[in-house]
Amino acid sequence: MPSALDGMSSLAIVTSGVGPKAGVVMQSDKPGIDPQWSSLSSLSKDVINCTRCALSETRTNAVPGEGSDFPGILFIGEGPGHNEDQQGKPFVGRSGALLDELLALVPLRREDVYITNVVKCRPPDNRDPLPDEVRACWPYLEAQIQLLKPRVIATLGRHSLMRFFPNARISSSHGQVMNWRDGIVVFPLYHPAAGLRSTKLKEALKEDILKLPQAMIAALDSERASQARPTSQPEPDPSPEDDSTDHRKGQMGLL
Ligand code: URA
Ligand code: SF4
Repeated sequence: MPSALDGMSSLAIVTSGVGPKAGVVMQSDKPGIDPQWSSLSSLSKDVINCTRCALSETRTNAVPGEGSDFPGILFIGEGPGHNEDQQGKPFVGRSGALLDELLALVPLRREDVYITNVVKCRPPDNRDPLPDEVRACWPYLEAQIQLLKPRVIATLGRHSLMRFFPNARISSSHGQVMNWRDGIVVFPLYHPAAGLRSTKLKEALKEDILKLPQAMIAALDSERASQARPTSQPEPDPSPEDDSTDHRKGQMGLL
């Protein structure tokens, strides 16, 4: 079986982030949410106490996410399930066990990456999160991206991919490198739960995860290219009613 490490001396070179950058974060367009999280821990604390959407009424625990403070790779699932809701940690059920198995193939451990979800609270009966819930929760994910500075965002499942590339299809884009913004690469994967239901998708997940080091190398190239671009044009502020600005930026960055 081909090794993901072929031609690479150490995965450490591809999994480490770029380190802390002062004075981050995002501009919030919603009242009642702190626009400036100076650290991941203050953000996680706000998530744990968040009541910005109705999911706060039915959750047991919010699940901010966990992992390395400066990961090269950020995994983003859809939303917590029953076990995650009980424990306040991401991907701790059967899907999480498969995710661990996949990471071990590369090889990576949970502590090397960061794992979170599009919505931080469990939708009742594991239904899909509603657009309003995704919108309410998005600033947390945006701030996590700004603070963590991943080089690769590995989306888990269709819903997570849709947040970055609304028109992409998971069936044709899984395992492919997609340029998002600021040199960050999106690397779509099937959701581990889909891998648990289908042997074929599990095999696809295994094949795709072995391409993670290549995605990281593509991200390094993309980062260099984005740094080489003139920076005289300031990024426009998102308009208050428009939550899709970042998605469009992502689409423009497509290779
Ligand atoms: N499925 C998800 O999308 N996220 C989790 O944290 C667990 C299961
Ligand atoms: Fe807050 Fe997100 Fe939980 Fe809604 S899902 S209550 S926005 S943390």
